Amino acid sequence: MTVKTIILAAGQGTRMRSVLPKVLHKVANRSLLEHVYDTSKQIDDNEIIIVYGHGGELVKETLSELEAKWVEQKEQLGTGHAVLQVDNLIGNEDTILILYGDVPLLSKRSIDSLLAKVTAQSMALLTVVLENPVGYGRIVRDAANKVLKIVEQKDATEQEQLIDEVNTGILAVKGEQLKSWISRLDNSNAQQEFYLTDVIEMAVNDGIDVKTSQPESVDEVLGVNNRKQLSHLERVYQAEQADKLMEQGITLLDPARVDCRGSFDSLGQDISVDINVIFEGNNTLGNNVKIGANTIIINSKIADNVEILANCIIDNAVVGAGSRIGPFARLRPQAELAEQVHVGNFVEIKKSTVAQGSKINHLSYIGDATIGSNVNIGAGTITCNYDGVNKFRTVIEDGAFIGSDTQLIAPVTVGKNATIGAGSTITKSTPDEQLTLTRSKQMTIHGWQRPVKKEQ
Ligand code: UD1
Ligand code: MG
Repeated sequence: MTVKTIILAAGQGTRMRSVLPKVLHKVANRSLLEHVYDTSKQIDDNEIIIVYGHGGELVKETLSELEAKWVEQKEQLGTGHAVLQVDNLIGNEDTILILYGDVPLLSKRSIDSLLAKVTAQSMALLTVVLENPVGYGRIVRDAANKVLKIVEQKDATEQEQLIDEVNTGILAVKGEQLKSWISRLDNSNAQQEFYLTDVIEMAVNDGIDVKTSQPESVDEVLGVNNRKQLSHLERVYQAEQADKLMEQGITLLDPARVDCRGSFDSLGQDISVDINVIFEGNNTLGNNVKIGANTIIINSKIADNVEILANCIIDNAVVGAGSRIGPFARLRPQAELAEQVHVGNFVEIKKSTVAQGSKINHLSYIGDATIGSNVNIGAGTITCNYDGVNKFRTVIEDGAFIGSDTQLIAPVTVGKNATIGAGSTITKSTPDEQLTLTRSKQMTIHGWQRPVKKEQ
């Protein structure tokens, strides 16, 4: 069965009060349209067609990597008119699935249940019962509970307005039938739009059975029209992510205060996550990883038994097993730490490798450096990697000890087991095993007197 998914995404989204087209607004750092796309991508043998419209060039440019056909709807004359724009892409034998680009949380399960109901004699409609159905198209059924038609809010009689089962807009149908119906749509209704929903009555007239199914939760079929609804769906999405993490055996100290804006390549056992932690992009977490409060982890690999204390930012970095990071540490892109490395407070590491057992415990900047194993870097050490134009590397060999408040002016190498005296400015490479320091001599002036305040 070839499925063609038509994602309607031409609506303007005025109520967002934004220069961005609505479908580019994000839930969990991914656009609404991409969420819909991601879910449709899980359907086997599926082709995706996106109908874009107002401000749509930006949508198309921003999401040009999506594997989809883009079709423009120049004027938004209604949902039926939107589908009519792709008429020539619909094959008679195709099963057509209609989704909305601003309904991001629809589940694959709901889609599957619809697709399973489509045959040459039947189409399928996703409906939901709402406490407050105002604004939605109502599902009108006969005495035998068979669907007869959908009536839009503005066209509904008082009696019809009492119906609480509404149209989600999501439906599936055979291509041949859909093509014949959309060619016959008209706009003689309260909104003078070409309603896709009118195909339901046509189906009934043609003897096609209209089957319905319901989503597991109402949130799945909620659309985004304003920022409030956007934030609601963000929270719904995050609650689902937190549930999934806990199902996989992760302790979340407060599931309402963890945000996942991306995915995990793998997750170990007995991970514990304190409050206000944000995961972005693709992360890997090993066994027994502990993550302290207020930490952001982006596209990083954290190995087994790592402890990340509070208030760290770990961005495109690798942390080896048994390492301890933070509090208040920042690992920037290409920071690669081996096993048992300690990185303490107010330490920034960028584009550097740190070998096993090395410690950088306080107030340091390590950039463009290669640091050997069991190196101890004293407080306030800075690799001066940038001359204002070019970047240079610092190499610190195994077992070196760098005294506090040292500046290493790159390019420079500190030899194996070398010691650098505190307060040094190292401009030339230093030999193995030796103590090197640059320091003006300390002196004492005996008998020196403090000045006293003159009387005026
Ligand atoms: C539509 C349904 C209504 C249903 C409701 C669910 C129709 C006539 N009505 O109403 O029964 O209860 O959705 O939310 O279908 N779009 C286009 N081009 C257009 C018009 C709309 O691409 O010309 C897209 C929009 O971007 C949106 C979707 O279609 O993603 C629905 O459009 P919207 O204007 O929100 O339809 P409603 O009036 O809410
Ligand atoms: Mg709507």
